Amino acid sequence: MGPTLQSFAARVYIRGIAINLTDNLIQWIENPRSIAPKTAMPITGVSRAEARHVAAYLYTLR
Ligand code: HEM
Repeated sequence: MGPTLQSFAARVYIRGIAINLTDNLIQWIENPRSIAPKTAMPITGVSRAEARHVAAYLYTLR
């Protein structure tokens, strides 16, 4: 469904819009539509605390 997240830590932008910084990534994982209203990615239902853990994992993908 979504794009590959391989080498995510090396990317400059999230979805070509938001700079790939921790706070933006957490916000994207929690509610991508708050960054890109028309994105096909749904609001995940993942909490902020969980999103922080997921972001930490994504930043291990080099
Ligand atoms: C916790 C679960 C998820 C995480 C961590 C996650 C993470 C991400 C990230 C980081 C991006 C940006 C990728 C980039 O910049 O190249 C992205 C994009 C995307 N995701 Fe997710 N995602 C999740 C769940 C989902 C689900 C459930 C769907 C759909 C059923 C989905 C569909 C998409 C799509 C379609 C995009 C492309 C956005 C666009 O071009 O508008 N994601 N996802």
